[in-house]
Amino acid sequence: MTFSPFLESLLVFLCILNLGFCIETDTITRSLVIKDPDSIVSNGRIYRLGFFSPENSSNRYFGIWNNVSETSIIWVANRNKPLVNDSSGTITMSEDGNVVLMNRENVVLWSSNVTNSSRNTSAQLQDSGNLVLRDNANGRVIWQSFRHPGNAFVPTMKITNNINTGVKVMLTSWKTLTDPDFGTFSAGIEALSIPQVFIWNGTRPHWRSGPWNGLILTGVTDMYAVYLDGYSMTRESDGTVSFTRDYYARLLMKIILMPNGSFVQTMWDVAKRDWNVTWVAPIDDCDVYGVCGPFANCNNLRKAPICSCLKGYEPVNKEEWGNGNWSSGCVRRVPLQCERSDNSSYKSREDRFSRLTNVKVPDLMEVLPGVKDQCENMCSRNCSCIAYSHDTGIGCMFWRSSLIDVRQYPSGGSDLYIRVAYSVLDEKKDSKPIIIASVVTGLVAISICIFFSWCWISRKTGSKRKLVYEKGKPYPSGSSAIVLRDDMDEVSLDELPLYSFGMLSDATEQFDEANLLGKGGFGPVYKGKLERNGKEIAVKRLSRASGQGLQEFMNEVVVISKLQHRNLVSLIGCCVEKEEKMLIYEYMINRSLDFFLFDPSQGVLDWKKRFSIIEGIGRGLLYLHRDSRLRIIHRDLKPSNVLLDENWNPKISDFGMARKFGGIEDEDQAKTARVVGTYGYMAPEYAMGGRFSEKSDVFSFGVIVLEIISGRRNTSFYDEEMGLSLLEYAWKLWVDNNFEDLIDERVLSPSFKTEIIRSIHIGLLCVQEFPANRPTISNVLSMLAGEIADLPLPEQPPFTQKRSREPSSSSLSQSTTGGSNNVSITIIDGR
Ligand SMILES: *[C@@H]1O[C@H](CO)[C@@H](O)[C@H](O)[C@H]1NC(C)=O
Ligand SMILES: *[C@@H]1O[C@H](CO)[C@@H](O)[C@H](O)[C@H]1NC(C)=O
Ligand SMILES: *[C@@H]1O[C@H](CO)[C@@H](O)[C@H](O)[C@H]1NC(C)=O
Ligand SMILES: *[C@@H]1O[C@H](CO)[C@@H](O)[C@H](O)[C@H]1NC(C)=O
Ligand SMILES: *[C@@H]1O[C@H](CO)[C@@H](O)[C@H](O)[C@H]1NC(C)=O
Ligand SMILES: *[C@@H]1O[C@H](CO)[C@@H](O)[C@H](O)[C@H]1NC(C)=O
Ligand SMILES: *[C@@H]1O[C@H](CO)[C@@H](O)[C@H](O)[C@H]1NC(C)=O
Ligand SMILES: *[C@@H]1O[C@H](CO)[C@@H](O)[C@H](O)[C@H]1NC(C)=O
Ligand SMILES: *[C@@H]1O[C@H](CO)[C@@H](O)[C@H](O)[C@H]1NC(C)=O
Ligand SMILES: *[C@@H]1O[C@H](CO)[C@@H](O)[C@H](O)[C@H]1NC(C)=O
Ligand SMILES: *[C@@H]1O[C@H](CO)[C@@H](O)[C@H](O)[C@H]1NC(C)=O
Ligand SMILES: *[C@@H]1O[C@H](CO)[C@@H](O)[C@H](O)[C@H]1NC(C)=O
Repeated sequence: MTFSPFLESLLVFLCILNLGFCIETDTITRSLVIKDPDSIVSNGRIYRLGFFSPENSSNRYFGIWNNVSETSIIWVANRNKPLVNDSSGTITMSEDGNVVLMNRENVVLWSSNVTNSSRNTSAQLQDSGNLVLRDNANGRVIWQSFRHPGNAFVPTMKITNNINTGVKVMLTSWKTLTDPDFGTFSAGIEALSIPQVFIWNGTRPHWRSGPWNGLILTGVTDMYAVYLDGYSMTRESDGTVSFTRDYYARLLMKIILMPNGSFVQTMWDVAKRDWNVTWVAPIDDCDVYGVCGPFANCNNLRKAPICSCLKGYEPVNKEEWGNGNWSSGCVRRVPLQCERSDNSSYKSREDRFSRLTNVKVPDLMEVLPGVKDQCENMCSRNCSCIAYSHDTGIGCMFWRSSLIDVRQYPSGGSDLYIRVAYSVLDEKKDSKPIIIASVVTGLVAISICIFFSWCWISRKTGSKRKLVYEKGKPYPSGSSAIVLRDDMDEVSLDELPLYSFGMLSDATEQFDEANLLGKGGFGPVYKGKLERNGKEIAVKRLSRASGQGLQEFMNEVVVISKLQHRNLVSLIGCCVEKEEKMLIYEYMINRSLDFFLFDPSQGVLDWKKRFSIIEGIGRGLLYLHRDSRLRIIHRDLKPSNVLLDENWNPKISDFGMARKFGGIEDEDQAKTARVVGTYGYMAPEYAMGGRFSEKSDVFSFGVIVLEIISGRRNTSFYDEEMGLSLLEYAWKLWVDNNFEDLIDERVLSPSFKTEIIRSIHIGLLCVQEFPANRPTISNVLSMLAGEIADLPLPEQPPFTQKRSREPSSSSLSQSTTGGSNNVSITIIDGR
């Protein structure tokens, strides 16, 4: 970074005004003595090293903090040896080549304490916040503060566990908010089987992240938001497993282990000039390790008590359990068949597995590779296996001795299969007389209550029927809740804020043509303004006349009501009245991407905006593809389905075609008889064979990338002279090493050239003919971020689309020839 001399002197001046004296260097050498209250600053002025006092304390400490505010301390040297009533401490390089802190009497309070250092050393404060001590002779790092963390985790720091030596690099909490002395909590990773992040209270586990599955920590259900920022777990050959986070995140962030044992992640908000809390763990009572004891499940969504025994288990001590002391947990109620001495192994009496959905899997698992079906087999063969679970990224997980720290999530998490005696699963029917006696009186009372409240509700709101929608049935009316039998998914529209038809009609001026924004997947979309608060909305109305579109409507509700991401459009309500079904979205002031990209009368999107739109679409897609519970293939990604908010942040919309998967690997690729999508954006295997997968979305993404770069439509573009489609044209220019002609001349500027060429390269990788050659969307994001230096060379994209230059809204039928794969397809597209 270079500053003009004027700016530089201004910065120094500001430094002087703010704090003691900030020395314009980032390196401590023998000749430099930092006297309290002086400080040094890292090269990019991100971190600062010097003396500070915690809030409400007069003790002085040597530490490193984020330049944005003196209270964002990330590391403290003399944690338990403060300078008391002494504001003349010094930091310097000692004779033996260590960084040392000395008090007024020149007594060493703290030293980096490397014994065999070469004496000729220097210590540099890096922009990551790491203080690195090097041997000047050979540049070797001999000590670094990141290997001796305090209570803060910052990007590029590594939290490690060597599985051969057991050595851990951990965070330790402060004693109190005002005392950096070592507190009782520590945090690190435990990598004996599958790596997990832990917080310990002394030696007892206090919180657990759940196992790392290669992408996320499975017990951190909101982690999709976090892992995009570059978390990773790596295993080195010496047995060191490290958890770290890349630096490419542009935001300043830190995770602090608080004195009360909580992780608090904060990000710096430049506008507010303050830290935003973005994540806290443990988040609730159930998050605390083993709060319910062994063989129990913690569910804080239930009315008290939060703990319940797993299926087939009962409390060890019923009285204690009843009093809310769950610490001793549960034990098995009915012995397993495989443990019995009278081992009469009738097939019908064999043990079964009871499924528990959406949980954090227990601690102390053993792991074997395998697909889902194999796990059950492996577990049932061995009587010491009491439960199993499966994760695509991990394989089979088994439990033998105990099931501890199971918690329930409302959504997300994993499925756990618990081994139970054959009789336990049949038990539902034979109810116990004792319970009945006490329950009956209760039931009578409850029914009376229900009856009266039902009467009251129905008088208030008119009758509400629950309606079951089945494919092919005529268009239902008068419903307020819809159940999709096909998906076994209950989607109650009641969960969404309900808007009345009148209100929406007023908001859109009786669905005036002038307010028509466009045609969505299943009906027209109108702009509206709510009278109540002046809020602008977009209303998508299911075309009434035709029964068609209902399926897409339902699909959209199922999919989008469960998703939330800044790059997906969000649903704010719905309207279900008589014949009318409408969905209400936030209104996007900048409309859709095709509008700005292809309409010459619009202003020009500069490259920075275009690039961040590419990244944003990628992130939205990654969320769809990788959210651990509900994996979604969009199937109709195109610029008109990418909406832009006031900050040009892209939001993927229109989920009428989206298909979801349960996260089972053999479903990775699916086949459909009905090919829906938009000409020009469909991957060849989908358009021709009806096969779709994440990689078919990647193909569409690649087309969009090339369109964004060139500012030209794939479907309508072709080179006048040679009659090439955009993909063919891009490929030809790529082969000729001639990039300029492809790039929209309005954004072509030398300063972005490398980035643009890399984007072309990535676009071409995405539109390769064979799905296996295309990168996954998470790879695409890494490539865009420049983390992958050597991109593979793309292969020629499919040119199957060149023969059709009909308008994109054509409906055609064709048969592919050759091969055994003669599939007749219909491309339905009216959009
Ligand atoms: C670093 O801190 C100093 C003083 O607090 C301030 O003048 C300077 O602008 C800061 N630099 C950055 C990049 O925030
Ligand atoms: C510092 O002292 C003030 C006043 O006594 C108190 O309000 C504040 O909470 C204290 N801060 C901390 C971190 O303890
Ligand atoms: C520090 O100074 C305060 C006030 O001057 C005094 O009360 C306290 O005893 C001193 N502490 C030590 C350790 O000298
Ligand atoms: C330095 O290390 C030695 C042993 O390696 C240890 O005994 C001593 O306490 C350490 N000193 C400091 C200041 O940490
Ligand atoms: C110091 O000694 C340790 C162990 O003997 C060795 O691993 C390390 O490389 C040495 N460091 C230097 C700077 O020589
Ligand atoms: C320290 O090492 C550097 C690099 O090798 C060398 O230039 C310098 O003279 C050395 N300083 C001393 C005091 O030996
Ligand atoms: C941590 O452990 C101590 C002692 O075992 C206990 O008193 C304290 O309540 C624990 N803290 C939390 C937050 O669980
Ligand atoms: C611990 O402190 C942090 C920050 O002060 C707070 O957000 C969190 O809720 C606290 N945790 C508990 C268990 O009290
Ligand atoms: C911080 O929070 C505010 C409001 O809660 C939000 O608008 C802003 O985008 C956040 N900033 C960051 C950097 O997350
Ligand atoms: C809960 O039960 C355990 C085991 O019986 C006992 O040691 C503990 O004191 C009990 N805790 C409370 C708060 O009663
Ligand atoms: C019970 O029978 C099964 C199948 O024959 C066998 O695998 C298992 O080891 C037997 N268990 C005992 C305790 O004998
Ligand atoms: C059951 O599993 C345990 C642990 O993996 C193993 O030691 C034991 O040999 C297995 N028993 C059988 C019969 O496979």
